[in-house]
Amino acid sequence: MSLRHELRSLVNYQDGYVAAAVHFDPDLYRVEAEKVFNRSWLVVGHEGMVAKPGDFVTNYMGEVPVIVLRSRTGDINVLVNRCSHRGNQVCLFDRGNARGFACSYHGWSYDLDGAMQGAPYEDIVYGDTLDKPSLGLKHARVATFHGLIFATFDEHALALEEWLSPDVQWWLKNFVLSVPVGGLEMLHGWHRYASSGNWKLASENFAGDNYHVWASTHVAMTAVQRDFAERGLHTPLDINAGSSQATPGTVFDLTAGAEGRAPLGIGVVATDDSMHTSDLRVAGRLGKEVVDWLEYRRRTYQELTAELVRKPKGFWHGLMYPNLGLMGFASHLSGRHFLLFHPRGVDDHEFWQWTMVEREAPDVVKEFAAEHVIFGQHMAGVVAPDDVENMERIVDASHAPTTWRSPFHYRLKLGLDAQSTSADLPGTVVPNPSEFNQRRFYQYWMNEMLKEDA
Ligand code: FES
Ligand SMILES: [Fe+2]
Repeated sequence: MSLRHELRSLVNYQDGYVAAAVHFDPDLYRVEAEKVFNRSWLVVGHEGMVAKPGDFVTNYMGEVPVIVLRSRTGDINVLVNRCSHRGNQVCLFDRGNARGFACSYHGWSYDLDGAMQGAPYEDIVYGDTLDKPSLGLKHARVATFHGLIFATFDEHALALEEWLSPDVQWWLKNFVLSVPVGGLEMLHGWHRYASSGNWKLASENFAGDNYHVWASTHVAMTAVQRDFAERGLHTPLDINAGSSQATPGTVFDLTAGAEGRAPLGIGVVATDDSMHTSDLRVAGRLGKEVVDWLEYRRRTYQELTAELVRKPKGFWHGLMYPNLGLMGFASHLSGRHFLLFHPRGVDDHEFWQWTMVEREAPDVVKEFAAEHVIFGQHMAGVVAPDDVENMERIVDASHAPTTWRSPFHYRLKLGLDAQSTSADLPGTVVPNPSEFNQRRFYQYWMNEMLKEDA
């Protein structure tokens, strides 16, 4: 069966059915490595991670290890972390500052632009036979968007500013990267953990699955909140305690991009005042400067959204195609989490997460956000372990090839897709809860999988 025929039989995003095979079939996984991870612009970090010349962090593009670094001239390079001699990694550290990299196997060395510098005993063992200019580390194409570093292996890929549609740019700039209120700064270090399940199970979860949060998976979190509240104890998780009090009809899911451009799915966009009220309640115990800062933010965003009929205040979660998860936690006190879902074979992935805080926020908010990470979206918190358990059980229940043709169900608010294009919020909008963003994710994924080679 041709790939086109096969995918058309597996993915019916119009009716909200996607067969389990897309998460388990190793043949599709191999195609995906080429059509998704070799083609897309992938987020590999933030400029704050590599502020000074020589600063580097290691990361992955799909399953390919890369070094993200600031060169001597201030450019950002993304180099494949793979020696040109016989394929060993040349950088063995998570992050640091370096003048170059030397391979641990036979000692070939490279500078910060990836150019090969030399080999041990070069004159004796190679004479003049080593063609060093052809033996540098492979470069990915690099572009940045307000500090977020993207890279792609596809030299024919659209320019990043085209890959990100105007609506996607609007959301990333204003609500993810907080540019109107001074932008973000790093809380340094990755938080990483392994999880069962195809990487797309994590991506679709962040794109639009708010249903699992309050219906079942994360009721443990709300139970802890309730119990602590009854005892008069406060934790950083309190920020979410007010989110269930949103006015009906004011909370939306939306997908920006998608029509031929990479989709950004955002879940639980609040347009009423419940988020501000909830933040103010916590700010009351953090101090007046926090209340003042929240009011300053509110005024700034009122001006920014003055022309919009529905005025977004913040969001809970999101997914920039293909594998960048986002957490906004429906609060301005939580910090902003960025999560990469790196594929590790067809039915495993790794979370690589970092957190940022608004640069102009009072220090007490930055400390609060750092604590909030550990209480919540963290393997030591009350959110991430419950998600990982679901993934393990999905793999256990559905990895047998005899089950692959049975479809998974993405039909929530299906009937509203056709009416959802909205002029009053950037993107295409459906009332929350929905599985609209998941349907858009699979629509785009399938089209990318079917694109002919350039
Ligand atoms: S593999 Fe790197 S020097 Fe041999
Ligand atoms: Fe979850």
